[in-house]
Amino acid sequence: MYIPEEIKEVKFSEKEISDRVKQLGAALTEEYRGRNPVFICILKGACVFFSDLIRAVECPIEIGFISASSYEGTKSSGKVDISFQGKLDITNRDVVLIEDIVDTARTLPEVIKAFKALSPKSIKTVCLLDKPSKRVTDFKADLVGFKTEDYFLVGYGLDCDQKFRNLPYIGIYNG
Ligand code: IMP
Ligand code: MG
Repeated sequence: MYIPEEIKEVKFSEKEISDRVKQLGAALTEEYRGRNPVFICILKGACVFFSDLIRAVECPIEIGFISASSYEGTKSSGKVDISFQGKLDITNRDVVLIEDIVDTARTLPEVIKAFKALSPKSIKTVCLLDKPSKRVTDFKADLVGFKTEDYFLVGYGLDCDQKFRNLPYIGIYNG
């Protein structure tokens, strides 16, 4: 297995991630059957999780992409930049926002605010990882893959300065 020297420990293995993604997909299948929701991938971090998760959902969905960023290196900058990618009409649609990780919880409330302005029918949030120890807002995701301690995590889409997104597991960064 490819483990770069900057990775201190594998925190969530490919198998653990894939089992949990299947459970999340099954929960979403139950919830959205017959509703044709739009799943939104929050780039770049959620790209790997998103592509696995949508294939674990067994009912019709549509997909869309936005980018949101607040991190510089291993610290949150506190400022969130959001941009919509391509055409996205979500008026009166059920929207499911897919995010990689909630840390201070500044990003998702800002993304929700931007989507609310577009008059969707509903908005739910799914996060693969939740690091509750550094919260600055009282945001809670509707579905969470794993709760974790305050490590800086990389892999499975998560980066440190744009690196390590391609690791198939989630590891603790030793920087
Ligand atoms: P928040 O606004 O502090 O909740 O930041 C969430 C965003 O910060 C996520 O979408 C990630 O892009 C990034 N982030 C937070 N913690 C980590 C981490 O441990 N590894 C990689 N990115 C992280
Ligand atoms: Mg992100």
